[in-house]
Parts: sequence; C-alpha cells; structure tokens
Amino acid sequence: MRIAKAMAQAGLCSRRDAERWIEAGRVCVNGKVLTTPAHVVSEADAVLVDGEPLPARHAPRLWRYNKPRGLVTSHKDPEGRPTVFANLPDDLPRVVSVGRLDINTEGLLLLTTDGALARHLELPSTGWVRRYRVRAHGRVSQRALDTLKDGVTIDGMRYGPIEAKIERTQGSNVWLTIGLREGKNREVKRIAEHLGLSVNRLIRTSFGPFALGDMPSGAVDEVKRKVIAEQLGSTLARELGVKT
Ligand code: URA
Repeated sequence: MRIAKAMAQAGLCSRRDAERWIEAGRVCVNGKVLTTPAHVVSEADAVLVDGEPLPARHAPRLWRYNKPRGLVTSHKDPEGRPTVFANLPDDLPRVVSVGRLDINTEGLLLLTTDGALARHLELPSTGWVRRYRVRAHGRVSQRALDTLKDGVTIDGMRYGPIEAKIERTQGSNVWLTIGLREGKNREVKRIAEHLGLSVNRLIRTSFGPFALGDMPSGAVDEVKRKVIAEQLGSTLARELGVKT
C-alpha cells in the first residue's frame, strides 16, 4: 500500500497531509527519510512520523441500527433537532454512519467506528443494493414502475437501474418495494414524485448483505468480525484492518 494511504488508514491524517509531510521530510521508512509519496510499504516496514511510530489501527467495528423516524443523521444539528448519535445506547463507542437516512426515514442504518470503512461502503462502486419499503399516497401501475429498470433522469439527475414492485394498496396509499444501488440525496422520494406519488412512510430494509430483520426500533446489533471480513473480501478486509 502507498505510504500516504497507510498513514491515512492509521487515522493519523488525510492522504493529502501525508503527502505534504513526506515532502517536508517528516516521514522515515526503515531509518531512511522519504522524499516522495510514491513509496509502497507493508506491515513489515517501520514507519516513523516526526520520530514516532504510526498508531496501531483498531479493527473496525460495524453495527446494524434500526433508525427511528424523527432523528437527524448528524452529530450536531444546527436547527437543534434530535440526532441519531445522541440517541444511541450509552455503551456504544463513537461511531459514524454509512451514509445517511432522512429525518423521517426509518430502518437500517449501518454504524461503524471506522471512517475509511464507512466511505468504502457508501461508494456507488461498491455496488450494494439498498432496499426500501415505501408507503406513498397516489396510484401507480406496475407498468410505470417497470420503466425504471433501465434508470431514469429526473431534473437533470441520472438514477441508475431501479427495481420497483407494488406490494399492495391500502386506502389511498400504495406500498412499494424499491431497490437501488446509489445513495443519492432523497432518491426514493424524488423517484416516487416523478411517478406522481407522495411518500409518507419510508423504511430501509436492507443495505447490501445486511438486513433489518426484526430488530426493534432504536436497537443496535453488532456485526461479527468474521461476517464483515467475508463481505469485504480478504484483500480489502486486510487493508481496512479487519483481522480474519
Ligand atoms: N431516499 C430518500 O428519499 N430518503 C432516504 O432517507 C433514503 C433514500
């Protein structure tokens, strides 16, 4: 792995800072001052920054969380609304979320101690499907939903392939299941609006291989390290510090 990435993954600094520090001659590998960030290191190399070894990387931890409606996915809300992070069980260490759910969205939100793991899982290139159950006011045909399977452009924003199925109708509402692989802002609501529907309940039921299952609202459940490693694949698991 490149030295700047190793320094960033150790939680010391950003890759950019690492490159600057290397150029400033502050980083030594195996007793030699580095002059270029284009240097590859392994766990066997002794890396010192300003004479100090890199901090040991803690194995990332990951939780499934059933987010209740009414909480903002943010550590601090400028409008003072209740946040996810202020309402987590007290015994949880400091965590970040893998992406966000809107204030009125419920359901599966992944939480992790590791920013690099969160960023990786959020990437569209990771390609994990996010599935939602959606209750919306209005009527739509399965035929109209099927037009989404090759993606759709709404107000200049491109959404990739979307699987959408009618589950049932309930009075003036319809229940749908929607699966997509992106994570764009308000994507489910925008797609529903595009079809003439107005979402009044939105529940994320799965994110990639992780499902909400029957977790009570507000509950957290830690994902076993072995499962994280299996889902990341061995190379990435090693890079992200998941011991297998
Ligand atoms: N789509 C939305 O519109 N909101 C969410 O919270 C998640 C997906």
